[in-house]
Amino acid sequence: MELTLASAGESHGPALVAIVGGLPAGLELDRDAIDADLRRRQEGYGRSRRQQIERDRVEVLAGLRHGRTLGTPLALVVRNVDHKNWTWGMSPWPPEGEPSGKGIKPVTLPRPGHADLAGVLKYGHDDVRDSLERASARHTAVHVAAGAVAKALLAGIGIAVRGAVVDEEGLRRAVDEARKERDTVGGVVEVRATGVPPGLGSYATKEDRLDARLAFALMGIQAVKGVEVGDGFALAAMRGSQAHDEIRPDRRRDTNHAGGIEAGVSNGEEIVVRAAMKPLPTLMKPLASVDLVSGEAGQALVERSDVAAVEALAVVAEAAVAWELAGAAREKFGGDALEDFVAAHRAYLERIQWA
Ligand SMILES: Cc1cc2nc3c(=O)[nH]c(=O)nc-3n(C[C@H](O)[C@H](O)[C@H](O)COP(=O)(O)O)c2cc1C
Repeated sequence: MELTLASAGESHGPALVAIVGGLPAGLELDRDAIDADLRRRQEGYGRSRRQQIERDRVEVLAGLRHGRTLGTPLALVVRNVDHKNWTWGMSPWPPEGEPSGKGIKPVTLPRPGHADLAGVLKYGHDDVRDSLERASARHTAVHVAAGAVAKALLAGIGIAVRGAVVDEEGLRRAVDEARKERDTVGGVVEVRATGVPPGLGSYATKEDRLDARLAFALMGIQAVKGVEVGDGFALAAMRGSQAHDEIRPDRRRDTNHAGGIEAGVSNGEEIVVRAAMKPLPTLMKPLASVDLVSGEAGQALVERSDVAAVEALAVVAEAAVAWELAGAAREKFGGDALEDFVAAHRAYLERIQWA
């Protein structure tokens, strides 16, 4: 059984949508739990006023009845509350009436570090907005909603996933200093998953490797420029005798340098992955750019933006890891009904005698 996710949506368009396939029937979803994750994504030190405008909430259009999945595609929607200020500028159809609101004037000054320049060149746009609207991390909201669904599924087999900023205090200090200088900062987040049994993922092909899948999922998030599994880059400087996690008679480990994955397969220890986020590229003190119409030197677009979104990334990364683990669990345990999935998991733990 393959878990699938298709998403669409622009930053200031009417809504973000996702269609989730491959869920078992009978999974109970809690609207408040999904909305709580959407809220967590919007909060965090260094975020802008946009987050107060949005107040994200999930809507479900299909695949759910009275709070339980039907085993059919689940359609999720998160509306962009801010769209009301962009109805002309981001109208999906040719807009009627006099231009009003935001997004009327074409953006011609691409921001370094964004999709802006490469996007207009690649797609032949004459307004940078046609690229930046989708390249924006706004649509991570609907991925967080899908991640909350994945976490509900994982909870059924005792797996919990949590993301956090690695150095919260350091981040706050860096945000305060950067804000004064109208600059931005990045940071590092860590996601841990407990209760993962040995045997998710496989060494059979590179696509099956759980470490590769988690790295792909994390690198797929905007602004993530590095991923580590377990001790990651630090392993390169260690001796083999220090770097590997010795196996006790009960098959557990006293150390976890591997971050719970060996040869692309979970080994029963906690999964630990980290992602490094670059400083956000929209600066209130803009960087040098070029006006794509006049060809003259100019300053990059200034659009309301955050000083940092590292705490938000922790939530988005948590959702991405939950999504990948749920996918690997669906492949291993299958089942059309939730109870089949749970029973297959239980039977597997019995076979390998894993407590
Ligand atoms: C949760 C989250 C929020 C973000 N918020 C902003 C923002 O407010 N301003 C900004 O310039 N970039 C923001 N970004 C980063 C950009 O979306 C990203 O750097 C840009 O699309 C270019 O992609 P790349 O950094 O992966 O190369 C955010 C990223 C994430 C994950």
